Amino acid sequence: MYFIGLDLGTSALKLLLMEEGGQILNIVTKEYPLEFPQPGWSQQNPDDWLRAVLSGVAELLRGFDATQVAGIAAGGQMHGLVVLDEHDKVIRPAILWNDGRTQKQVEYLNGTIGKETLSERTANIAFAGFTAPKLLWMRENEPELFARIRKIMLPKDYINYRLTGVHCTDYSDASGMLLLDVKNKRWSAEMLELCGVREDQMPALYESWQPVGTLLPGMAAAMGLSSHVKVCAGAGDNAAAAVGCGVVGDGGCNISLGTSGTVFITSKQFRVDSRNALHSFDHADGGYHLMGCILSAASCNKWWMEEILKTADFAGEQTPITPDCLGKNDVYFLPYLMGERSPHNDPAARGAFIGLRMDSTRADMTQAVLEGVAFAIRDCVEIARAQGIAIGRSRVCGGGARSPLWRQILANVLGIPLELPQTEQGPGYGGAMLAAVGCGAYPDVAACAKALTSVKTVTEPDPALTAAYEEKYNRWRQLYPALKGVRL
Ligand code: XUL
Repeated sequence: MYFIGLDLGTSALKLLLMEEGGQILNIVTKEYPLEFPQPGWSQQNPDDWLRAVLSGVAELLRGFDATQVAGIAAGGQMHGLVVLDEHDKVIRPAILWNDGRTQKQVEYLNGTIGKETLSERTANIAFAGFTAPKLLWMRENEPELFARIRKIMLPKDYINYRLTGVHCTDYSDASGMLLLDVKNKRWSAEMLELCGVREDQMPALYESWQPVGTLLPGMAAAMGLSSHVKVCAGAGDNAAAAVGCGVVGDGGCNISLGTSGTVFITSKQFRVDSRNALHSFDHADGGYHLMGCILSAASCNKWWMEEILKTADFAGEQTPITPDCLGKNDVYFLPYLMGERSPHNDPAARGAFIGLRMDSTRADMTQAVLEGVAFAIRDCVEIARAQGIAIGRSRVCGGGARSPLWRQILANVLGIPLELPQTEQGPGYGGAMLAAVGCGAYPDVAACAKALTSVKTVTEPDPALTAAYEEKYNRWRQLYPALKGVRL
């Protein structure tokens, strides 16, 4: 049997074909546009995602026996608001996870409704990228469009809906809407009412591995698949990535250096960070997790390489950063190119290079970008540590994790060993694994993760470098508060 995993990302869809024993047979990437119609806004056309899926699957299967495909599941970018009208047409472009337009609605939710009430109802407080503030924004700014909403869903759920006709979501992704009672795994009636929506507009809730339906005949034909292929609910991309990296059950940690950067800490028991600085969400294995999310991680390096240095040679730009340069850089970088979620919850935060001198080099600035992202990840780890959560080691995935230099910087900034899994295809591999569980190839997610995931390389921290980076981190963390008062 074969399984297809979809990683519905912000810059591209990555499709992965996996055989039952875990071997990856093929990978295809399909890019789509991302719009920034106003500073801090971020939107995408859901039909671009669908087109990428249909053409991508057909391409993925070229040269393979499509009759072997038993199931599909996606790990999708979280929090994005997709709204359909009574004719099932997309009403407006999806408002994405890194969109900062809802500052006013977030202030209303956290201030007037109150963080305590929100946390009681959903286990979380409001952040600009979450879905509920976007519904409030739409109600206030686009009342005619809001009145036409019949179905509300998240990005990967739009794909599942088009593929199967079933309006569904899974608990891990639904957790990021601020509409789900995360602990009890049901919609919060109070939050739906507050946002002016009814439960019949919301998707049905599933565990990530559960099949939601089979392919509609037209969709099956477009992809060259049988209409018996099962579509499983899938997960938010971070939960799917954790599954794909084998981070399931209790006490695991996965750090993702993708467009966003996340610290994902698993637990079997439900728990909430006392200050709600970390998100408290359901996991795709049936348990729970805490998560910190920085809005720009590998995307900072991509921006620096492609937009500013105008190069595609990411590895070449890192070559001059030799081991003796580590822990000694006097240039600092704040990675807040799209504002920041964890820990500052500040859509108006902005990026910065600080400490430039006449002798500062291009390589110093590249190093500062990698270090600035690592320091921002450390901010998330520090919140967890302040809650008494010991993070002794972590898996690491995402595009940024492919750089040995970045892994070395991060391991030393955090002072922990970082384990690179055999496959770094986090959300796509996790999606394929969830489909394998949903189709009965494995009894549960834990068993599947045990059978299919392992560590390829471990990056150990060096005590002297960890001490040097401790000092650098303590300096870096003073920069955001110092600049916060200056509104640009
Ligand atoms: C998590 C988050 C991001 C997106 C990226 O809360 O907003 O990691 O899921 O796709």
